Amino acid sequence: MKKVILKNLLHQSMMEKDGVLKVDLLDQKTLDEVYRIFCAFFPNYENEIKNTYYFSIFHNSKEELMQMHLQSVEILKEKLDLILVDYKILGVVFQVKGVGPDSFVNIHQDLTVIDESKYSALTCWFSLSDSNQQNGAIHFLKGSHNLFRGFRAHTLSDYQFSEVEAYIIKNSEIQSTKIGEVLFFDPATIHFSKPNVANQPRISLSLSIVHKDAEPHIGFYDQNKNEQIELYKVPDDFWYIYDDFSSERLIRPIFGKYVKSIYNNFNEKFNYSKFVIDYEKYRSIKD
Ligand SMILES: [Fe+2]
Repeated sequence: MKKVILKNLLHQSMMEKDGVLKVDLLDQKTLDEVYRIFCAFFPNYENEIKNTYYFSIFHNSKEELMQMHLQSVEILKEKLDLILVDYKILGVVFQVKGVGPDSFVNIHQDLTVIDESKYSALTCWFSLSDSNQQNGAIHFLKGSHNLFRGFRAHTLSDYQFSEVEAYIIKNSEIQSTKIGEVLFFDPATIHFSKPNVANQPRISLSLSIVHKDAEPHIGFYDQNKNEQIELYKVPDDFWYIYDDFSSERLIRPIFGKYVKSIYNNFNEKFNYSKFVIDYEKYRSIKD
């Protein structure tokens, strides 16, 4: 039986059905403390983030990233303990969605970082600004985590969704949030966000959370070995080991230990270069 991390059975059943769950979790004091960490880490964000989407994981100081991780976890743990059990936090990433047409986030699923057939993994997205239609709140294709659970590697291209893009956009729902609310979602749930057309950047904090017993693994997709993903065992702090995240995430993980090559989507072969939606199956999942 899969080991889960949501405490509440209702939350767990909502997660299994929709793949996303919204909870009002942070009070003003906690928000202020998180915002203080963000400002200390990134004091000039309003001048530096003009019109794109920024992820703190691209920052080039591993030590500063680890400090930010430890400080954020110390503040948020008490709140997360209200919702989660038997969990550990692998990564902490501040995100700033700048203003303008280039601030969109393509259709994607989040990375696989553990064996999701045995253990739960969740992305936990803290809204540090309100998010809405104007500033590009996240859209989710609810239930899509039950369509494809194959191993999702950094090296899979966003373009794999190009042929089903119109269907995903039409059938996805926007998930607006108030400051302090948190979206917990299954990393396999398909999501994206439209550009921020408001006049302020939108700030959020994202945590990669997994069952405490799960051993992190990340995948490498070699285009010459279609349908297969190479699995590498990595340490719990792997997010902070990269010397240069932007280039190293696209190659075989140098710090990982090769385990095996797999092809899996509920044990079926899957063409990783082209995402195909079984529309009938999706309708039955949603109903
Ligand atoms: Fe994402």
